[in-house]
Amino acid sequence: MPWMTMDRMRTEVAIVGAGPAGLLLSHLLAQDGIDSVVVETRSREYVESRIRAGILESSSVELLDSVGLGKRLHDDGDHHRGIYLQWPGERHHLDFVDLVGRGVWVYGQTEVQKDLGRARDAGGQRIVYEVADTAVRDVTDRPHVTFTVDGRPERLDAEVVVGCDGSFGPSRGAVPETVAGTWTRTYPYSWLGVLADVAPSTDELIYAWHPDGFALHSMRSATVSRLYLQVPNETDLAEWPDERIWAELAVRIGPERVPGPITEKSVLPMRSYVMAPMRHGRLFLAGDAAHIVPPTGAKGLNLAISDVALLAPALTALLRENDPRLADAYSDTALRRVWRCTHFSWWMTTMLHRGGAGPDADFEAQLQQSQLRWVVSSQAGATGLAENYAGLPIGY
Ligand code: DHB
Repeated sequence: MPWMTMDRMRTEVAIVGAGPAGLLLSHLLAQDGIDSVVVETRSREYVESRIRAGILESSSVELLDSVGLGKRLHDDGDHHRGIYLQWPGERHHLDFVDLVGRGVWVYGQTEVQKDLGRARDAGGQRIVYEVADTAVRDVTDRPHVTFTVDGRPERLDAEVVVGCDGSFGPSRGAVPETVAGTWTRTYPYSWLGVLADVAPSTDELIYAWHPDGFALHSMRSATVSRLYLQVPNETDLAEWPDERIWAELAVRIGPERVPGPITEKSVLPMRSYVMAPMRHGRLFLAGDAAHIVPPTGAKGLNLAISDVALLAPALTALLRENDPRLADAYSDTALRRVWRCTHFSWWMTTMLHRGGAGPDADFEAQLQQSQLRWVVSSQAGATGLAENYAGLPIGY
């Protein structure tokens, strides 16, 4: 093999991952005058077309507004006052604005990603896409990230490394097992998610409990619906031709939808995962790198946003004033909200999905229906769901 010199770069904060957590962090740091470089294994086109849940809590929107990222969200996004919860024969609206004084915004994560990409372009952010062999090294001493670009080795030295590289990225592995605790939960079902060029048949999202399994009617725009069906784990998409999907949606949610072209179809596994602490030495973790929630309730993006909203001022104080207090508190502070959302996502998931067959599942189904009735009919029940769904303040 020919001998190659390693290119070296230096920055204050090396960010691994150019998803919403990584790009928003680079944006917040730039506003404080902190230099960062972002490295990403995927291409920009890939990260900008990844389909994810599209619900933003009020505090996420306030944060994006406060740093100049809210314009298109307000122009093109949709403010929702609440959601519908339904089970066979009944549909109830929960009005979060009446219950807790705030609603949510429906605005696809792909759109947030594009807005962030444009803002970072305007800010002259250094982002290296399509890197390979990324490794996070020496985080307790001289933190740096090594990677290759087109087969050429590179090294990025930094004061601090932040892992925003999701659950399969290399950052998580740089925290030794002797240091980290992990908590995990798998679920005996998945979601079949589809995007369809069909006008939503509802003004706000419908979460549907049904004996055949959960279904969700969400949306991306006035002409695009996002729909989900509970399916068994390891489901083969070949078993779900479009006609079967529309028929099952009609059974589980109701017959109002007019079938139309399905433009994307995938099976999404469901998992809860938390790793703590979210820091080791001069490596910090944010977003999916430290925690995964099942999609019900759409908390993943909001948690990524709240993590970096805490982390940016902590790193600024550390690097500019040599004040470690916020950085030292970051993991504990972030984890309070992480566990709240982990509980809420688990609670929504287990309240709405069929757990299998047999007497235990039948017993569970009765409990679920009783719980749903309580949530929609009791002020306390409805307020609890609304407070968590519309989101707690950053720093909760
Ligand atoms: C969406 C996904 C969710 O998990 C959810 O709870 C609400 C909406 C979505 O993709 O639009």
